[in-house]
Amino acid sequence: MTTTEPAPTTSPLSRRPDNPVVGEALHHEAATLHVTGEALYTDDLVGRTSNVLHAHPVQAPHPHARVTRLAVSAAYDVPGVVRVLTADDVPGTNDAGVKHDEPLFPSEVMYVGHAVCWVLGDTLEAARRGAAAVEVDYDELPALMTVEEAIEAGSFQGAQPTIQRGDAAAGLGRATHVFEGVTAFAGQEHFYLETHCALASVDENGQVFVQSSTQHPTETQEIVAHVLGRPSHAVTVQCLRMGGGFGGKEMQPHGLAAVAALGSILTRRPVRLRLSRAQDMTMTGKRHGFHSTWKVGFDDDGRFTGLEATLTSDGGWSLDLSEPVLSRALCHIDNAYWVPDITVHGRIAKTNKTSQTAFRGFGGPQGMLVIEDIIGRCAPVLGIPAAELRRRNFYVDGQATPYGQPVRHAERMVAAWEQVSETSSLAARRAEIDQWNAEHPHRKRGIAITPVKFGISFNFTTFNQAGALVHVYKDGSVLINHGGTEMGQGLHTKMLQVAATALGLPLERVRLAPTRTDKVPNTSATAASSGADLNGGAIKDACEQILARLATVRAELPDASWEELVAAAYHRRIQLWASGFYRTEGLSWDATTMTGHPFKYFAYGAAVAEVEVDGFTGANETRRVDIVHDVGDSLSPLVDLGQIEGGFVQGAGWLTLEDLRWDESDGPGRGRLTTQAASTYKLPSFSEMPAEFNIALLERAHEDGAVYGSKAVGEPPLMLAFSVREALREACAAFGPPGRPVELASPATPEAVYWALRAAREARS
Ligand code: MTE
Ligand code: MOS
Repeated sequence: MTTTEPAPTTSPLSRRPDNPVVGEALHHEAATLHVTGEALYTDDLVGRTSNVLHAHPVQAPHPHARVTRLAVSAAYDVPGVVRVLTADDVPGTNDAGVKHDEPLFPSEVMYVGHAVCWVLGDTLEAARRGAAAVEVDYDELPALMTVEEAIEAGSFQGAQPTIQRGDAAAGLGRATHVFEGVTAFAGQEHFYLETHCALASVDENGQVFVQSSTQHPTETQEIVAHVLGRPSHAVTVQCLRMGGGFGGKEMQPHGLAAVAALGSILTRRPVRLRLSRAQDMTMTGKRHGFHSTWKVGFDDDGRFTGLEATLTSDGGWSLDLSEPVLSRALCHIDNAYWVPDITVHGRIAKTNKTSQTAFRGFGGPQGMLVIEDIIGRCAPVLGIPAAELRRRNFYVDGQATPYGQPVRHAERMVAAWEQVSETSSLAARRAEIDQWNAEHPHRKRGIAITPVKFGISFNFTTFNQAGALVHVYKDGSVLINHGGTEMGQGLHTKMLQVAATALGLPLERVRLAPTRTDKVPNTSATAASSGADLNGGAIKDACEQILARLATVRAELPDASWEELVAAAYHRRIQLWASGFYRTEGLSWDATTMTGHPFKYFAYGAAVAEVEVDGFTGANETRRVDIVHDVGDSLSPLVDLGQIEGGFVQGAGWLTLEDLRWDESDGPGRGRLTTQAASTYKLPSFSEMPAEFNIALLERAHEDGAVYGSKAVGEPPLMLAFSVREALREACAAFGPPGRPVELASPATPEAVYWALRAAREARS
């Protein structure tokens, strides 16, 4: 599957010892607990805690309104209601956002579902009834529901960055073909199986302990401290594991944890706050949808000469992560392609919706969708097959991205592309499909291949650091702790493998303790797919410190077992534990000029997808998908395989199924999220999985700059799903005459596919 054959230049960080535990195809460290239901999630702790209060929000029914009266006394008449939390109770700052634009208890509600206050009850039912009894009067204000409305009204928030290289106008001037268009596409609900949850308690000494389903315990700690008006050392946050985060728990857990902590301080009882699915969907942020306009030029050979684009993301009511998401979108509009002269403007619309946030890919998918849509639409008019047009524009070594970072290992993109073309029998199947389509007037098949190039590291250089704590006990057993969180992605599995490898021990000697801010402080979010790179580096550092201290003892006792060695070292008073630290070297980023070297490396991949579309309904199925993806030298091949499968399917869900709808009418329901349950929001399930799904890891892919030669895997595979969208476009095109562009809405739901194929079919007459 993967090779451990070292590249000619292996760094101390990337080099593997003999018989490493990394690279073994192990199952997820908690797989058994997951499938038996024994794995504990934050809310499972409630049953193990006594005297718990339950929190329920009072949610606003208007998309934009001033709160003119808030009367809570009726709630106290409800049996079991213990306390109502309002802005007056906040001892610190009434704000839940890192950007200080998110009042925790707002006096102006900004979207339907916005929590005005919270009710605590002995039971969830008591709290719910109490919330229903709270009286709120509103003064309604005008609301903006779409990006277009926000653009019209000039409603923007945050910075408006531009990425630029060369002279886009001159590039367009050199073109022999110029196209203009609009590409608009929707966001995505995270739909992690575990909804947001926090359980807070306070000890006899005033120390606040919050168990939270959070990807960023340190930031949850900071916001809780900020709201409580206490220093960070008075707040500890622990995350056992998450039942999925997908970026949705990078920033959104903080305010909820703060409400639970505040409630616990005021009542001296543990407070549990867990959102129901409908609350989670109506209160918390989603992937940003975007509206983008573009003008692109190609020369006679189909090579890009220039691109001008404006990307406007739908940020919702507050900023949270909208600025970095937009930056990543701008940094990924090139995907795998060299565009010599380019200007891309970005801005964030402020609308009366949930505050859109991180979601797997973090803007990367949005940027890439724009250029993949451009290529898909322009190829037929240029008379060049889309696959050929893509391939022709690939970066070659020596070229740099629009923000100035050289594209290292561009040849790996080509290797993935060629390998998947071959293993999927792309050319032969294309011919078969043409034949099949000629014989089937009402059903058409399409096949497409798309590439992925995704930058790994946080754009914001500071975040690329991590810490770890490794304890070796006197009996030789090892306990590790690191700053990353486990959300199903297998980070803990990889970290156990890294520690065992670094110490030269079998896996069973190493155990891992839950993520806590009092063990490893000042951590970054487990995000940007960098969890294993960063925390793996920190664990390896800690292990190597311990081994260095043991070296003198080892020299005296060359034949001692590990246990004997450790015991001897203890008697010699040698420290047997260490804290490790890692920071990614060689990074730079200037957010003003949008230039620099923000990524340690790029992850590459390519996918071939085949679909079949019904001409009467637009209903479609994905018949087969082949993927070749670059994970460097895999730390844990089974985990990586799961990440590739899951990422791809989640991407296909975003692009073809999941259809977020807000009420954009002027009726009384304006602003309401109309898809607030699994009954109206269609997620991919087994029936949408490709009937045939072949995944291979790119070989000879050692990454010199990362821990044990591996590459990050969490997000990049999501973008392999563009192949499905482009295959649908090919199938729609097959209903009409050749050489015409097919416009496909995103998500390309069966309905959208139907409209696209009907337009193609009608072009015949
Ligand atoms: N996989 C599972 N099963 N559940 C998740 O929530 N989140 C994704 C990805 N894979 C996620 C997942 C996202 S958004 C990111 S950034 C990475 O995992 C984070 O983990 P890593 O840095 O350890 O890869
Ligand atoms: Mo992932 S969107 O960076 O949490």
